[in-house]
Amino acid sequence: MECNVPSQRDAEWDQWYSANYSFVDKPAEATTQIMESLKDQIAVVTGASSGIGKAIALSLAAQGAEACLVARRRELLEDVAKQIHALGSRGHAFRGLGDRFQKDFGHVNVLVLCGGAIFHGPLEKASLADFDLMYRSNVRGHYFMIQIMLPLLRKSQGQIVFINSSAGLRSAAATGQFSATQHAFRSIADSLRDEVNADGIRVLSVYPGRTATPRIAKLFEKEGRAYQPDLLMQAEDVAEMVTHSLRLPRTAEVTDITIRPMQKSY
Ligand SMILES: NC(=O)c1ccc[n+]([C@@H]2O[C@H](COP(=O)([O-])OP(=O)(O)OC[C@H]3O[C@@H](n4cnc5c(N)ncnc54)[C@H](OP(=O)(O)O)[C@@H]3O)[C@@H](O)[C@H]2O)c1
Repeated sequence: MECNVPSQRDAEWDQWYSANYSFVDKPAEATTQIMESLKDQIAVVTGASSGIGKAIALSLAAQGAEACLVARRRELLEDVAKQIHALGSRGHAFRGLGDRFQKDFGHVNVLVLCGGAIFHGPLEKASLADFDLMYRSNVRGHYFMIQIMLPLLRKSQGQIVFINSSAGLRSAAATGQFSATQHAFRSIADSLRDEVNADGIRVLSVYPGRTATPRIAKLFEKEGRAYQPDLLMQAEDVAEMVTHSLRLPRTAEVTDITIRPMQKSY
C-alpha cells in the first residue's frame, strides 16, 4: 500500500499528522474515559497466594476491584488481602467457594484461573501420579470452578481469564504431561468463548513464558541453574497486560496473549 508521508514539518506535515495521529495528542483523560472501570467489580482470582495470581489480584484491586482470593495457603492469602486493603480496596481470603460465597456475593465480574501444579520429566520416567494431580488441578479443577461461577458471571456479563503457559501452545522435551494439561486448558477456553460470547462474556487466554515467581525459583534450583529473576519476565508484567485487556471497551475482545521475557537466562 502506498503511504504518502510528507517529508518535512510544514503546514502539509501538520495536516497529515493530525489526520493520522491525532489520538497521540489527546490528554490522558480522553483515552482513559473509554476504558471500562473495574471499580467495585467482584474479581475471583485462583492461585492468588503467590506469583502471577497474587500480582493480578493486586493489580485488579489497584483499579478498585473487590478481590476474592482463592488458594490453599490461607496465611499467604491473608497477607495479600492486607496489601489490598492498604490500596484502599477490599480483599477476602477463601480456600473454596461454596454456598456462602454465592449468598454473599450474588454475582462475579471477573474470574481469573491461575492456580495449578507443574511437574516435568521424560515420558519413560514421568510419574502417572504427577500426571493425575496435574489433570485434577490444571484441567478438572478449573473446569469445575467455571461451572460454579458461570451463573454468577452471566449476571454481570463478566470476563474469564485463563492463565495458561507457553506450554499450552508448544510442547518441548520432558514437558509432555504438563503441556498436555495446558493444551486441554486452552481447548476449554476456546470452546467456552464460542459458548458465552453471545451472552456478553469475554474469554481471554494468556500464555506467559518464564516469569520470576517462587515456582520458577524452585524449578531453577531443581535444574541446578543460577536463578536470575531480573532476566525473566515479572509477574507484574503479566498482571498489567491482563488488567489492561479486561478494561478494554466492549467493542473489542482480546482472545490470546503470548508474553515472554525480553531477555533470556536460558
Ligand atoms: N512462572 C512462570 O514462568 C509461568 C509461566 C507460564 C505459566 N505460568 C502459570 O501461572 C500460574 C501461576 O504460577 P506461578 O508461576 O505464579 O507460581 P507460584 O508462585 O508457585 O503460584 C502458584 C499458585 O498456584 C497454587 N497452586 C499450587 N499448586 C496447586 C494445585 N495443585 N492446585 C491448585 N492450585 C495450586 C498456589 O497456591 P496454594 O499452594 O496456596 O494453593 C499458588 O497460588 C500457573 O498456572 C502456571 O502454569 C507460570
